[in-house]
Amino acid sequence: MKTIVSGARPTGSLHLGNYAGAIANWLRLQETEHCYFFVANYHMLTTGFLDVSQLHENTGIVLAELLAMGVDPDKVTLFVQSDVREHAEFCMLLSMLTPVSWLERNPTYKDLMDNLDQPELRTAGFLNYPVLMAADILMYKADAVPVGQDQAPHLEITREIARRFNHLYDGVLREPQAIHISPVLMRGMDGRKMSKSYGNAISFQDTPETVREKIRLTVTDPARVRRNDPGNPDVCSVFDLHKVFNPDEAPEIRHLCQTAGIGCVECKKRVAEKIAAFHTPIHEKSRELLAHPARLADIAADGAKKAAAVAADTMAEVREAMNLGI
Ligand code: TRP
Ligand code: SF4
Repeated sequence: MKTIVSGARPTGSLHLGNYAGAIANWLRLQETEHCYFFVANYHMLTTGFLDVSQLHENTGIVLAELLAMGVDPDKVTLFVQSDVREHAEFCMLLSMLTPVSWLERNPTYKDLMDNLDQPELRTAGFLNYPVLMAADILMYKADAVPVGQDQAPHLEITREIARRFNHLYDGVLREPQAIHISPVLMRGMDGRKMSKSYGNAISFQDTPETVREKIRLTVTDPARVRRNDPGNPDVCSVFDLHKVFNPDEAPEIRHLCQTAGIGCVECKKRVAEKIAAFHTPIHEKSRELLAHPARLADIAADGAKKAAAVAADTMAEVREAMNLGI
C-alpha cells in the first residue's frame, strides 16, 4: 500500500468539476492505498486572507460534501489542516532551507504576479505556498501525490525540498512521486471551464431543482441553430456532462448529436436524469451533516487525532535532525 496525501481548498461548495477532476480520484485511491485527505484551510488563506468571513462555514461545507461523496473516515485519515498545527511548524522549518528563487520561478506564482491588479496579494504567505504544500506532503512521508497540471510544479518543489533537507541534515524525509491525473475537461453553463469564480458551476449545495434549471440553461454547440443541424459534441458543455455522468450512453449521444438524431432539449434531459441520481443523495447527505455540526466536528476531531499522531512522530524526527531543543 502506498501512502497518498491530497488536499482540497475550502472554496465553498464543491461542484461537479471538482468531483470529476479530483474527488472521484480520491474515492478510487481510498480503496487500495493509505490516504491522508484534508481540507486545506491554511492554503485558502494564502489568497483569501483579506476576507475570512466565509472560511469557517466553507470548511464545514467541503468536509460535509467530501463525506457525502463517500470519502470514508474509516478507510482514510480525513482532517482539517489547521487542526494539526504541526503543518505550520513544519512549513516554517522547511522555509529556512528553501531558496526564494525556487519559489519565484514557480509558474503559479509568476502567473499571478504578472496578472495581478491587487498588490495586497504580494504576500510572503503566497510566495511560500509551495513550502506549506511540501510540509503537508512530507509530514506523512507520502509515496505519491495525485497532481493535475497546475499542481505538478508544486510537487517538484516538494521533491527538491525533501532532497535538500535529507542532504543537509541526514534527514528521513521521503521524496514523493507524482501520480499524474489526466485532466477532465468539464465546462460550465456558459461554455467556459466550470469554476466557482466564473459563477457557471453546478454545485452540491444547489437544490435538485436548481440543478435541472442550470442544465436547461446551459449553452450547447453555438453553431447548432436548428434542430436539423448536426451538432459538435466536442464543443458542448452538455456533452462534457454525458462523458462523466452518463459514460455508457455517451458514444451513442455523440453519434446522435453529430447526425442531428437528437435535439439539445432531449439530450439535456437524458443527462439531467443521470446527474440527478448522482447529485441528489450527495446534496441531501451533506445538508444532513451540516444540520448536525456536532457530528461533523466529531468526525473532524477523530481525523485530526489520527493525523496528529503521525505528525508528532515526523516532527520529533525533524526537530532532532535539525538539532532543535536542548
Ligand atoms: N494546493 C492544492 C490545491 O490548490 C491543495 C493542497 C494543499 C494539496 N496541500 C496539498 C494537494 C498537498 C496535494 C497535496 O488544490
Ligand atoms: Fe450538445 Fe447534446 Fe445538443 Fe449535441 S445534442 S449540441 S451534445 S446538447
